[in-house]
Amino acid sequence: MIFSLLFLCLNLSSLFRFSSGRGAAIRSYNQSGYDDKIYGHSGRRLYSDNDFQMSEEDYNARLEKLAQGYMSNSDLEKAMQEVNSRCPNISRIYSIGKSALGVPLLAMEISDSPGKIDAEPSFKFVGNVHGNEPVGRELLLLLANWLCDNYLKDSLATTIVDGVHLHILPSMNPDGYALRRRGNANHIDLNRDFPDQFFPMNDDMDLRQPETKAMLNWMEDIHFTASATLHGGALVANYPWDGTEDKKRDYFGCPDDKTFRFLASLYSRSHYNMSLSKEFPDGITNGAFWYPIYGGMQDWNYIHSGCFELTLEISDDKWPDASELPTIWDYNRMSMLNLVGSVIKTGIHGRVFSSDGKPLPASIAIRGINYTIAAGKKFGEYYRLLAPGEKYEVIASMPGYRLKRACVILGEGAATVDFVLDPDTSSTLNGSSRVLEDAGCYFDSKTSLQVVDFLPATQLEISLLLFVMLGFLCLLMQRRARRNQKQMPAVPRRAAVI
Ligand SMILES: *[C@@H]1O[C@H](CO)[C@@H](O)[C@H](O)[C@H]1NC(C)=O
Ligand SMILES: *[C@@H]1O[C@H](CO)[C@@H](O)[C@H](O)[C@H]1NC(C)=O
Ligand SMILES: [Zn+2]
Repeated sequence: MIFSLLFLCLNLSSLFRFSSGRGAAIRSYNQSGYDDKIYGHSGRRLYSDNDFQMSEEDYNARLEKLAQGYMSNSDLEKAMQEVNSRCPNISRIYSIGKSALGVPLLAMEISDSPGKIDAEPSFKFVGNVHGNEPVGRELLLLLANWLCDNYLKDSLATTIVDGVHLHILPSMNPDGYALRRRGNANHIDLNRDFPDQFFPMNDDMDLRQPETKAMLNWMEDIHFTASATLHGGALVANYPWDGTEDKKRDYFGCPDDKTFRFLASLYSRSHYNMSLSKEFPDGITNGAFWYPIYGGMQDWNYIHSGCFELTLEISDDKWPDASELPTIWDYNRMSMLNLVGSVIKTGIHGRVFSSDGKPLPASIAIRGINYTIAAGKKFGEYYRLLAPGEKYEVIASMPGYRLKRACVILGEGAATVDFVLDPDTSSTLNGSSRVLEDAGCYFDSKTSLQVVDFLPATQLEISLLLFVMLGFLCLLMQRRARRNQKQMPAVPRRAAVI
C-alpha cells in the first residue's frame, strides 16, 4: 500500500510543484526587490531616476545623445499611422486611455478582421513599460511594419494576420520616455502598480496610475490568450511567478510552470543568442528565482485575466545606441513571430456548444493543473496553451450542463477539441457502473495522436474526489520527506531592477 502510494506520489509530484515550492518558509522581509533598490552590476549601469549626478548641462546633453535615432512620442504616432495607411485592411489604431500627462496610449491591432469580435485568439505585445527602456517600442513598430509588408507573402505573417488578433501597445509609459526615467510622470514604477496576489498594496483603484488603469480596462475589454512585455537591461525570457509569499528569492512556479517554461524557451531558442546565456540556463528564468517583485503586470495577467504573459528582457543595454536597433530587431524577429504564432500553432483549442448548438462560455480545466480558463462568451472558443509532447485530460464544464472530458496526446502542433455539453436534467440519470480506474484518461503506447473520449460526469466526479484525496496524501508524504532533506545551499544571485 505504502509503496503504491509512493509510486503514485512520484508520478503526481510534478502536479504539486505549485504547493511544494512554497514550503520551508523562513520569513524574512529585508531581502527583496520590493523597495526597488537600483543595483549596478557586471560593470553595467542600470539607469534610474536618480542616476544622473551631473550638471544640468551634461545631463541634458546626455539625454540628447540617448534620444538620437529613437522616435519621439509624436514620431511614434506618425509611424503607427504610416503602417495603418499602408495596410488599412489589416490594421487599426485605437487608444486605451491616457498617460498622467494626457498623452494617448495608442494601440494598433493587426488582423485580417481588425476591430471585429470573432472566434480567433488575441495576443498583446506591450513595450516601454519603463520609460528608460525604449528598445521595445522601436521593435514593436518594426514588427508592425514587417507584418504589413509580408502579409500574403510570408506564411508565418499570413498565419498570424489571418488567425490572430495581434494588439501592439508600443509605449505604455510615454511620459516616462519623454522624461527619460523609469517611472511615469508621477515617479511611479508602473510595473509595481498592479494588484498583487500576496500583498494588498495598490488595492485602492483610485490611487492607481492612469496608465495602470488603462491597462486593467484593456484586459477586461479584450480576452487575451497570451502576451509579452518588452523590457531592457538583461537578455532573458522571464515567466511567473514574479513574487513569493514570504518575499524570499526562490523558484516559485505557477500552476502552469511547464507551459510557461515551454513558452519562454520558445522565445529564447528562436532568438539569435538568448538561449546561450551563461547567466540564465536556456535563456529563461522564473521571476521569483531571479528577483521577486510585487505589484507586477505579468502575474496579474495570469491570475486575473486568463492571459499567459512573459516578461522579455531583450537587450543588456537598456538604451543602446540607435544604430544597434536593426540588429536587435533581427535577433528578436523570429522569437516575436513564433510567440504570437504559438497561440494557434500549439496547445489545445476548440469551441464549446450546448447540444442545441448554442456557444457556451464554459470553464476549461486540465486535470492536474490548478487553473481554468473561460471560453469566449459569444463564440464559446477557447485557446489553452500547454507544453507539447504530453498527455492531457481536458474538462469542459458549465453550470446547468453535464461536464465532458477529452483525453489528448498533444504533439508538437495544436490539437482541436470541440465539446458539446448536454443539459443536466437529472443527477441520477444513469447508473452506469464502470470501475473507477476507467474514469481517468487511459493512454496506451499505441494510442494515436489524439483520443477523444467522453464519459458521464458522475464517474468523473468520483475519480476527481479520489484524485484530490490521493494528491493530499502525496503532499503530506512529500512534506515529510522534504523535512528530512537538507536544504540546498543558496546560490547567491545578483540583484537587478529591470
Ligand atoms: C548576444 O550577442 C550580442 C551581440 O553580438 C552580445 O553583445 C551578447 O553578449 C550575446 N549574448 C549572449 C548570451 O551570447
Ligand atoms: C488552486 O488555486 C487556488 C487559487 O487560484 C487556491 O486557492 C487553491 O488552494 C488551489 N488548490 C490547490 C489544490 O492547490
Ligand atoms: Zn523594465
